[in-house]
Amino acid sequence: DLELSLRPERLSQYIGQDQVKNNLSIFIEAAKMREEPLDHALLYGPPGLGKTTLASIIANEMGVQFRTTAGPAIERAGDLAAILSSLEPGDVLFIDEIHRLPRSVEEVLYPAMEDFCLDIVVGTGPSARSVRLDLPPFTLVGATTRAGLLSAPLRDRFGVHSRLEYYDTKALCSIVERTAEIFSVSIEKDAAVEVARRSRGTPRIANRLLKRVRDIAQVKGETVISKATTQEALRMLQVDAEGLDFIDHKLLMGIMDSFQGGPVGLDTIAATIGEESQTIEDVYEPYLLQIGYIQRTPRGRVVTPKAYAHFNREVPGS
Ligand code: ADE
Repeated sequence: DLELSLRPERLSQYIGQDQVKNNLSIFIEAAKMREEPLDHALLYGPPGLGKTTLASIIANEMGVQFRTTAGPAIERAGDLAAILSSLEPGDVLFIDEIHRLPRSVEEVLYPAMEDFCLDIVVGTGPSARSVRLDLPPFTLVGATTRAGLLSAPLRDRFGVHSRLEYYDTKALCSIVERTAEIFSVSIEKDAAVEVARRSRGTPRIANRLLKRVRDIAQVKGETVISKATTQEALRMLQVDAEGLDFIDHKLLMGIMDSFQGGPVGLDTIAATIGEESQTIEDVYEPYLLQIGYIQRTPRGRVVTPKAYAHFNREVPGS
């Protein structure tokens, strides 16, 4: 599977996130020396930065199975109990969107994380009693967009907290070149830089854009992907010079046009442009905050002068 082979399998193949990588490599080495599973690890940061990839790398480096599920997929305590009791010693259990676990399920997780056991209630009424089941030692790797979305008791049970950051252009460029190689296509350096610069610091976006650029190059019969073809593809995809897409534009324009640049509440702007508040908050806003195009104030979101400049517009009242 080509899609799967895009994911690096070893820490040494993983590009960027140097701080996270260096720390993890030490924790992994130490756990292996002690012949213990790695401590539970919480990975957090915006979507597309490689949380799932890192979790699977942890399993590979530890030499154990990688089991994966997601918060919304586990509806009942029994669903989680079934997964936990099927683990083998040392396995990595990855729970994506762990902030979306129901509270009743979270409570099953606490003794499982702390003492590797399950407390199960058997029977009903007066004959109901609690039975304690031992679990194999395992490593829980949880992923979420923001650590603050987790309840404090759950967050505190992770021994390792790693925050993934947006990638710089250099790291993204290396990722684009690596992906091109896996696709067996050639790309000029300045074309790879162009894809990297316009990928919002996000490998998932860089790889997606590269696929579309490759399509255009292929149809044009271009054997080495050029910068001009890259620019043409990105124009077709409505990705602008800074990598902002149609929805970023709608969001920024919406605040500028309908709310004089803000402040405006998240739900109000979401309703105005017809996007989910949660998607804006998790996917679009973090990058716009990072590049300083919007700011959060107590009264809502504000578009900055830098964003007005990007659109060649005057800041209202200036
Ligand atoms: N593909 C996607 N993300 C990557 C990363 N961080 N390193 C290497 N290849 C990747």
